[in-house]
Amino acid sequence: MTESRTEAPATAGQIAASGDTGEPAFYYPPQELVDQSNIMAYARERGFADAEALRQWTVENSTEFWADMARRLVDWYEPFNTVLDDSEAPFYKWFTDGKINIVHNALDRQVKTWRKNKLALIWESEQGEAKTFTYWQLYKRVNKFANVLKSMGVQKGDRVTIYLPRIPEIMIAMLACAKIGAMHSVVYGGFSVEALQTRIVDAQSKVVITADGGYMNGKIVELKKITDDAIKHTPVVEIVIVVQRTGQEIEMQPGRDLWYHDLMALPIASPKCETEQVDAEQPLFMLYTSGTTGTPKGLVHTHGGYQVGVATTLHFTFDIKEEDVWWCAADPGWITGHSYIVYGPLILGATQVMYEGAPTFPYPNRWWTIVERYGVTILYTAPTAIRGLMRFGEAWANRHDLSTLRLLGSVGEPINPEAWRWYHRVIGQGNCPIMDTWWQTETGGFMITPNPTTPLKPGSASRPFLGIDADVVNELGEPAGDDEDGLLIIKQPWPSMLRTIYNNPERYLEQYWDKAPQGLYTAGDSARQDDDGYFWVIGRIDDVIKVSGYRLGTAEVESALVSHPAVAEAAAIGLPHEVKGNAIHTFVILKNGIEPSQDLEDELRAHVGTMMGPIAKPEAVNFVPSLPKTRSGKIMRRVLKSRALGLPEGDLSTLES
Ligand code: PRX
Repeated sequence: MTESRTEAPATAGQIAASGDTGEPAFYYPPQELVDQSNIMAYARERGFADAEALRQWTVENSTEFWADMARRLVDWYEPFNTVLDDSEAPFYKWFTDGKINIVHNALDRQVKTWRKNKLALIWESEQGEAKTFTYWQLYKRVNKFANVLKSMGVQKGDRVTIYLPRIPEIMIAMLACAKIGAMHSVVYGGFSVEALQTRIVDAQSKVVITADGGYMNGKIVELKKITDDAIKHTPVVEIVIVVQRTGQEIEMQPGRDLWYHDLMALPIASPKCETEQVDAEQPLFMLYTSGTTGTPKGLVHTHGGYQVGVATTLHFTFDIKEEDVWWCAADPGWITGHSYIVYGPLILGATQVMYEGAPTFPYPNRWWTIVERYGVTILYTAPTAIRGLMRFGEAWANRHDLSTLRLLGSVGEPINPEAWRWYHRVIGQGNCPIMDTWWQTETGGFMITPNPTTPLKPGSASRPFLGIDADVVNELGEPAGDDEDGLLIIKQPWPSMLRTIYNNPERYLEQYWDKAPQGLYTAGDSARQDDDGYFWVIGRIDDVIKVSGYRLGTAEVESALVSHPAVAEAAAIGLPHEVKGNAIHTFVILKNGIEPSQDLEDELRAHVGTMMGPIAKPEAVNFVPSLPKTRSGKIMRRVLKSRALGLPEGDLSTLES
């Protein structure tokens, strides 16, 4: 790596042109941002000249670094003595003998300071109504709802499923569970019956929290009806708490269904509630994510390590300061929302914006009106949203004052350089570095990401975060050369890592630790590293498809298809899509005697949408007489993909003859 190439030039915000392409090789951050950044303050304190020198030190001294963060950024009821317990690796434990609760740091401690009346949340509905919550107001609501849950017998360790739209109650519900030591299992509101049912059954949740409906793109999503269908054959569910959002007519089953507002008005819903003091390793939540088989994986995160990870990453990467207005435009139902809407910003005492609806509702300038109205200073979103907004042209953004923005972020999939440059030039007005954060539901927080001092290359997530030792290796675990594709791996544990797969430790080992040589965490992504040490994430190497940044398993889509009476067999693959990154294409063998037709294609697409949710709706259903399979009967999706793209089919030696 050539250090000198990444040094900032004398002029702030200047870009350095690369000789051959005419495009800048590096985009440098404004010098003022660098000088005043949280990461430079920490580097100076530790005696380092720059953030890169600090980073190298933290990778070599990761437990010392994380212990320091655990003491600075969060408070403990009882201090920890052991930083990392690796005696049962890869079932790592962090801060094991400490006592803590994430809600203590997110709310309880804030209301004892001047932040008590600081705005924690500015929420805007799709219709344009705004609601605000100070730390104190949020704190009291969380206490009330925690008391409601307690009165229903919810206890430490119990799982509660939350299926809500992007409304403040989703935060309140998650924090209330955490407060009493129960685990939340949030199911994204865009998922549908089958996805919700499998997740409730796996978690064995007795309590489900939902809403009468939610708004998206001017339409109502029938959340309560979907919940009713999902739990029809799920006897484990005893209580359904329903938030009134749309006011539409819904069926309430006596004895099972209760209105949230009725419960919150009961004397039992007192605004005072003791926070449960839990072990650092107490599970905080499980979040399901798609993997290579049909059953989704409930990834388990804990109270202690997780909060240290999210607070540290948000503090250094997005440089959160007291006066910032942070807006993470993700949904709280995904890990991005868990870490950087619900927990991270509150732990750091930030003010944030949450917007309920679609970016283009009613017009493609909706987001820019929000930035202008609330003076948003940091915006964090996904490449698919940027590409979608880019299509409408820059005039929509240009009519708004976006000058409050100082940093931008991207997450969920690789960002193509064209979209990166548009985001930088039009939204950031050339002044806002883009933090392209690579991470996963499994990692809990950012793993490879620039910081405000990093010279940026569009399309690269740059270098690993502080304390993170990432690399690219071949199948044998040997380091790949410069610009050589390989497996993205992590070489040492970090506090916010997943601890296990709920009820399935074997799958945890097999999925993440058995694919590369001992001690290496395999992320399931392929990547390469250039001669500056910058990482370029290429994409998934397993049967996971990223559609608009959402993670979907081919097996889940296939099982939804074969649940249709006309389908004998099905295969799903992802093919490149201009806006969504990837789109789902499916191949279907029909049952004997059933004829292919356009109507049937439409019906099958709609069927997947109903079973899985609109995000999983295939772009195309191709009727085929057979599917390429290995001799052991596994569908070779790789072959389908190569054929669809007109590429060579590669090694077919295992193909069934
Ligand atoms: O393939 C990578 C991609 O998203 C995967 C993780 O998906 P999920 O668990 O749903 O979490 C998404 C939000 C963190 C990764 O394995 N991915 C995520 N961020 C990036 C990315 N690919 C390239 N660049 C990124 N910045």
